Amino acid sequence: MILLGTAAGGGYPQWNCWLPVSSAARAGDGRATPRTQSCAAVSADGVHWFLLNASPDIPRQLRRLPAAPAGAARHVPFEGVVLTDAEVDHSLGLVLLREARHLPLWCTPAVHRILREDSGVLRMVEAFAEVPWTPLAAGVAQPLARRDGSPSGLTVEAFGVAADPPRFATRAEPLHTVGLELRDASGARLVYAPGIGDLDEPFLARARGADLVLVDGTFWTDDEMIALGVGTRTARALDHVPMSGPDGSLERLKRIGGTRTVYVHINTTNPALLADSEARRAIEAAGIAVGHDGMEFHLTGSR
Ligand code: MLT
Ligand code: MN
Repeated sequence: MILLGTAAGGGYPQWNCWLPVSSAARAGDGRATPRTQSCAAVSADGVHWFLLNASPDIPRQLRRLPAAPAGAARHVPFEGVVLTDAEVDHSLGLVLLREARHLPLWCTPAVHRILREDSGVLRMVEAFAEVPWTPLAAGVAQPLARRDGSPSGLTVEAFGVAADPPRFATRAEPLHTVGLELRDASGARLVYAPGIGDLDEPFLARARGADLVLVDGTFWTDDEMIALGVGTRTARALDHVPMSGPDGSLERLKRIGGTRTVYVHINTTNPALLADSEARRAIEAAGIAVGHDGMEFHLTGSR
């Protein structure tokens, strides 16, 4: 598994943000590393990769995947794309992958409908590429097939998470936003939830004993955007559980102690992006990592 992008929508530093956390990344003062938008890639063999979401930064993110075989004129370095939702940061990259010509997609029926009817992303992609779709159902582990139809050795299971639909969705349907659990033949388990409004007991039960948990680290505090004068809505109103506070993700994640846990989808305002911040210290003291682009994990399923 490779983290291709670990920032929330807008990236880090977000283009219009000049607050101190963003400015530190621009200054290159060693405290903060720029990050591209939320995206990951998984593989059972290091050769055949599946994208988890498709960020607007996908063209340059794909440089982290294996290069084309010698002599190849064109090469698509992934087998397909699995989506958690239809948000801009997780789906706009599909448009930028239209040159693939054949772009297998796994997502829930609600995500597929929003992409086709509400954002129009899928209509654009389908004008250029075939997009064979495998519907994801909640609680069912489904095989991820390679482009040639052969088994990849990976399965994916979608599970519902607390969230509202994207702002541009015309209706609220079940499973407009999900987390993903991926498994390989060795039994290795990866839980991926880059957008989640509450780390409730069902989620913690799923995360417990996984080999790796990648979880929403958008905001440090619930009132972060309001306190900084750049927004009017709390983290929770934006469907992101803040890291800090008694009901924050940090306290909840302490309950799954021993499970390797990494924050992803980190907003350009989050002080945890700074290596010398109190927030970073508190996170690392809890045994949790702040994800960065290019971070790699080799899961063995030895548990
Ligand atoms: C979110 O994570 O809340 C959404 O992706 C918002 C956005 O960036 O459009
Ligand atoms: Mn997002």
